[in-house]
Amino acid sequence: MKTMKTAIYPGSFDPITFGHLDIIRRAADIFDKVVVCVMINSEKKTMFTIEERMDLISRVIGDFPNVEVDTWNGLLAEYAMNYQDAVIIKGLRAISDFESEFQMAIINKKINPYLETLFLSASEQYTYLSSSAVKEMAKYGADLSEFVPEEIIDDVIRKSQMRR
Ligand code: PNS
Repeated sequence: MKTMKTAIYPGSFDPITFGHLDIIRRAADIFDKVVVCVMINSEKKTMFTIEERMDLISRVIGDFPNVEVDTWNGLLAEYAMNYQDAVIIKGLRAISDFESEFQMAIINKKINPYLETLFLSASEQYTYLSSSAVKEMAKYGADLSEFVPEEIIDDVIRKSQMRR
């Protein structure tokens, strides 16, 4: 039987939330290795730079020995060619996520026919959570402790104040 060793978890992670961490934790239980890859979504303007987002992720994945952080500013399907037996992991929160995720999975497969995309359904308590919602709440000084890890709350608040 063939096993899939590496899961690539791509995203903007602007910033990483408990929803992302839940997907990372579950993928880390299934796969030998999880690579969290900070990428460019050309449709989004981000609050944090790539380096800052990688730093925030590195600070909150300390408990996972088989999780790494990386970045790539090209196509995801090309990045995946760096790994043997890698699959893409995505979290799905709602039907509204499905359309664009399904489209991306097909495009990625067209570029790299060996590349599979697997979806993990978001845990119920995080179905509402998104990085955009976190940024919006930070702007108005809301308590972020339910949404992002303690270690990065100050960074999110500081950055959102700088931008007001
Ligand atoms: O967290 P996001 O913003 O939903 O993640 C989207 C992301 C960054 C994974 C997606 O935009 C992406 O894969 N960007 C890299 C360029 C690419 O390969 N695009 C897919 C073909 S349409």
